[in-house]
Amino acid sequence: TDYETILVETRARVGWITINRPEALNALNSQVMRDVVAAAESFDADEGVGAIVVTGSERAFAAGADIKEMEGKSSLDMVMGDHFGGWARFAAVRTPVIAAVAGYALGGGCELAMMCDIILAADTATFGQPEINLGVIPGMGGTQRLVRAVGYYKAAELVLTGRLMGAEEAERAGLVSRVVPAADLRAEAATVAETIASKSLPSVYAAKASLDAALETSLAEGLRLERHVFASLFDTVDQKEGMAAFREKRPPEFTNR
Ligand code: HXC
Repeated sequence: TDYETILVETRARVGWITINRPEALNALNSQVMRDVVAAAESFDADEGVGAIVVTGSERAFAAGADIKEMEGKSSLDMVMGDHFGGWARFAAVRTPVIAAVAGYALGGGCELAMMCDIILAADTATFGQPEINLGVIPGMGGTQRLVRAVGYYKAAELVLTGRLMGAEEAERAGLVSRVVPAADLRAEAATVAETIASKSLPSVYAAKASLDAALETSLAEGLRLERHVFASLFDTVDQKEGMAAFREKRPPEFTNR
């Protein structure tokens, strides 16, 4: 398949998407959105892929939505063009997605990372929602997902001032699960992704769906959903295999059935 702005490969049951617009610090124009969404959906449809990694370059995960592409638009253009609607499809893939962030993850770049399930950061990573400096606000989830990730007060400070934060601060705030040396980022992301991809896919889909519900529902409703999803896994071959393997003190051999 022909992608213009990303590099794509599958290795060890992991689908890799590398955003590749070095001339614009990986700014997310509409072609990047089309490419990333198409690649993620194609990995999602592939049973041979159990986890997806999205990454950028050493300098930038993504420095935001493409300012030059947006600059001349009217509000009507924004509504009718649905310029960012595709990202909702990216956020909806069932396969776990790991963001491996080095350099800038600003504006839409930070928002793209927050659409993923796990954020790993190089010690060079910088996160922020600087849209306020452009006379606008975050538009791909920044005011919503950042509040859920780091709490209202920290999110409000970042969104209202446009201040950027480094990897260590992002880890302390709970946005990032782990900070690693920049040189190790891809290898660490591969380890995490391959670990997830070694599990039984039905249970991985179920875990992601149940985790997603935690951000959307009341506790009572979320607990109900979790209990039903948990129960449904007892019809899988892999549940019998996983529990038999435990009893027989051997590693499980999952077949994604
Ligand atoms: C378009 C961008 C860009 C962006 C960088 N570039 N960010 N182009 N959109 N978001 C381009 C620059 O114009 C420049 O191209 C080249 O990439 C290198 O960037 P420099 O600015 O020269 O690099 P540097 O001096 O190292 O500064 C890095 C930076 C700065 C601090 C990250 O580029 C910056 O502030 N970028 C914008 C960050 C931002 O505001 N992001 C939020 C966007 S709004 P040329 O051709 O000039 O050399 C957003 C809204 C999301 O994301 C909501 C959507 C619904």
